[in-house]
Amino acid sequence: MDTVMIKDNAGPQTEIASLDDLYRETERLEVTPGWVGRDRPIFWKEPRTDFVPTQWRYRQVRDALASAGTLIDVALAERRNLILRNPFPGNNFATVRTLVCAYQMILPGEVAPSHRHSAHALRVILDAKGSYSVVNGEKTPMASGDIILTPGGHWHGHGHEGAEPAYWLDGLDIPLVHLMEPMFFEEYPDKYEKIASVAADSRFRFCRDAILAGLDTAKSDPEEGHGPRITLEAPDMPTMGLTVERLGSGQRTRRQRSTANRIFVVMEGSGETKVGEETFAWQKGDTVAIPTWAPFSHQSTSDSQLFCMSDEPLMRAFKYYRSEFV
Ligand SMILES: [Fe+2]
Repeated sequence: MDTVMIKDNAGPQTEIASLDDLYRETERLEVTPGWVGRDRPIFWKEPRTDFVPTQWRYRQVRDALASAGTLIDVALAERRNLILRNPFPGNNFATVRTLVCAYQMILPGEVAPSHRHSAHALRVILDAKGSYSVVNGEKTPMASGDIILTPGGHWHGHGHEGAEPAYWLDGLDIPLVHLMEPMFFEEYPDKYEKIASVAADSRFRFCRDAILAGLDTAKSDPEEGHGPRITLEAPDMPTMGLTVERLGSGQRTRRQRSTANRIFVVMEGSGETKVGEETFAWQKGDTVAIPTWAPFSHQSTSDSQLFCMSDEPLMRAFKYYRSEFV
């Protein structure tokens, strides 16, 4: 066999006379031969994922959170949440590949200090009366049925002036930020951000009545992929697609799949979602995670509204989006 001499300016010449020599040299150079077998291939035929279709029941988690209300001190109130960890081995955080959700509770009289971070975030308000959020100095109500946005880089905090514990679901793109690694996080210098204005009608708030009014004039998908549906425009949060769809009692959507990772939150009603081979019966407040390419369909058993957050805009922007009825 011919001998190839490699000149290494930083050290002695290396002689490569055999495959073993070559592999030793590739180790030394921190390169990987593309022709060797790999534990995990580089390409595969169609989307696959470790994430599994999963449902979380709001009533069960709410009971656990109510207990946390007495056990977790007010100083930790901003973190009195329970994260919807997708239950595959080794995962301790993400709900789907790019997104994470958590149920959160705040007690009457509590105020959470403000902070800001790179991750974009939103809240689906499940049971709340008298609670509020402060986003970039603007105080806005957080009431049942509202969706509140806290875009990345915006200061945000919250408090509660009502009489009963308030519950909501947080949704953030933290797993995406972890993947791409642009994370910044800052506590507000004076702990509590000063309230510069009070606005019931805020660009950070989609209030329940406006969502319902929008659904009254919304159109169904003619191919029955979804019921009458509105998109919640959130230009400051381009990583997430936000929609609310209405399903009349007994309405069914066609079985479909797409490359987008989706999380559905039941804002009203009851029904079931079939994902792959599983059927999740749901009611108000429940959450269903649908990983990429998992076939799913919904069927309602009473008038329902489903909020959906997904990474569909990212998939589209990158030209990775693909969908089909199955
Ligand atoms: Fe936050």
